[in-house]
This record gives sequence, structure tokens and C-alpha cells, in this order.
Amino acid sequence: MSPLMGLLGVLIAGLLYHTCVIAQDDNQACYATVGEPYTHFGTKTPYSVVLNKDDSEVKFPGCRPAQFWLTARHGTRYPGEDDIELMARRLPELQQTALKNAAEGRGELCEQDLTNIRSWSLAFDVSVENNLTPSGEQELFDMAKRFQRRFPTLLGPPYSPEKHKFQSTVKQRARESGRFFAKGLFGDQPVEFPKSEKNHPLLQFYKTCNRWRELIDDSEASRHERYTFQNSTHMLGTIDHVSRRLGFTSNMSYADVRLIYDICRYDKTLHPDRVSAWCAAFSEQDLKVRG
Ligand SMILES: *[C@@H]1O[C@H](CO)[C@@H](O)[C@H](O)[C@H]1NC(C)=O
Ligand SMILES: *[C@@H]1O[C@H](CO)[C@@H](O)[C@H](O)[C@H]1NC(C)=O
Repeated sequence: MSPLMGLLGVLIAGLLYHTCVIAQDDNQACYATVGEPYTHFGTKTPYSVVLNKDDSEVKFPGCRPAQFWLTARHGTRYPGEDDIELMARRLPELQQTALKNAAEGRGELCEQDLTNIRSWSLAFDVSVENNLTPSGEQELFDMAKRFQRRFPTLLGPPYSPEKHKFQSTVKQRARESGRFFAKGLFGDQPVEFPKSEKNHPLLQFYKTCNRWRELIDDSEASRHERYTFQNSTHMLGTIDHVSRRLGFTSNMSYADVRLIYDICRYDKTLHPDRVSAWCAAFSEQDLKVRG
């Protein structure tokens, strides 16, 4: 039996509901100087934060690995077109207002955090909407390396089209995730990917399941939990803290706070080694209340 390996692109769909954690207002002096800032960012959590650090070879007495199959989600992607347009329009306005607030003596941001927000600008435009980010490429590359160390007899080079099978959806982020996974295993050896079909029946089964689309994906009932959460004391508390930290005299809208949260986590996943300027608007407890 030949060892097979499949890399499948996008599989998980549906609404992701939000978990929440008790919020407390812990005043932090300066976000920029926090040594290891909190980076559990829901669906934008960098893989490096949550990966299984045990990459030792998997061994069971009397057994040897025969097959390895993996269905993987794509790595970190850029926001979609609508979200990027909103960021490009609204964030510079919020930036100006927050800086003006600080100049007038309102808000709780330290000098360094203000300087970081002042020099912030949006690092991407709609041309990359939904594409895999460079950090996303690295995530799949590194994941392949870790699996290779766990199953060296199956996943080691050289690549052989008979032994190693790959498939992704047509989406750029899925295709490139597959390509970088293959690169992690086989370096620059060219790897065959069969041409992807639109609405792949296995990888994108949800695209053709009308019952799921109507009863779950498009239903108002599915959004109920999200609306309840947006109105919860946890979320209202976070909005209150963020508004005060940025020097607003009334509470900001949920949408604005959510936008700042999004740019905070996107900038962090794009540049894991840098301080993500907008994260300074949140305390660690606020970041745990995921909007
Ligand atoms: C939040 O609560 C207010 C008043 O309690 C209500 O008017 C509003 O529709 C609620 N919003 C959402 C998104 O549920
Ligand atoms: C902001 O919202 C919080 C929580 O809902 C509330 O306690 C506070 O009074 C509001 N602040 C302003 C300035 O309206």
C-alpha cells in the first residue's frame, strides 16, 4: 500500500460564534512595552502561538505508519474586499480623532502608543483581498516541516507523484497554502496539483448543500448569538474601556471597536515581530472578550 498524503484546502465553513471571557478593566501603562503581548486572536491567531511544540517522531511499539492524510485550513489571509475598503476609509478618521483627543488631554494612551498610532498606515489594499499573507505562507511551510519530523518515513523527500497526492480548492489562499505545504516537505521539487474544480464536492461540500445554506448560513436565527453577545455586559464593558482609552467622550460604536480589533490582529499576524499599534486600544482582558 502506498503512503498517501492529501492536502485539502478549505473545509470549515459556517458561522463562528464568539466565546467570551469575563472582562475586567486592568489599566496598562504602555502596550508598546509589554514583553509578550496577548495574541490569541480567534480565527486570526498566529499558528506559531498555538502549535503543538512536540514534533518528535510518532512511534508505537509493533506499528509503523502506513498512511498520512491531512485536511488543512488555509493559513492567515488578508481581509475581504469590503473589510479592506472599510479599513481604508474609517481607520484614518479614527486615527485622527484619537490623536486629537490625546492632544486635548483626553485618553489613557502612553506617549509610545500614541507615536505608534500616529505613524500607522494601512499596509495593504484591495488588490490582495482574501489572499494568503506572507505569514500564512510561512505557517503552512512550517506545519509541513513539523509533520515531516513526526512521520519521516512517509513525508520525507523525494517527492513521488504515486506516493504523494495533493489537492486544493480554486481559492488563491488554499492553492498557495498547498503549494507552501509541499515546499516545506520537498523544497523546490515541483509537485503536481490536479486542476481544481469549482465547488469541489469534497472540499467545499457546503457550497452545494442547499439545506445547510438556507437553514444555517442564511438564517437570522444563526445570527442571534452574535447579536446577543454584541449587547452583552462583556462587550459593552470593552466598548466603554476602548472609548475611554482613546479619549472619546461618548461610547464608540460596536463597529468601530470591532474594526480596531481587526486591524490590531491583522497587523500582528502580518508582522509578528512588531508592535501592532492599534492593539494599544485594548487591555489584555478586553482582547479576551472577542468581538
Ligand atoms: C441591544 O439592546 C438594545 C436595547 O436593550 C436594543 O434596542 C438593540 O436592538 C440590541 N441590539 C442588538 C444588536 O441586539
Ligand atoms: C458607555 O457604556 C457603558 C457600558 O454600557 C456605560 O456604563 C457608560 O456610561 C457609557 N459611557 C458614556 C460616556 O455614555
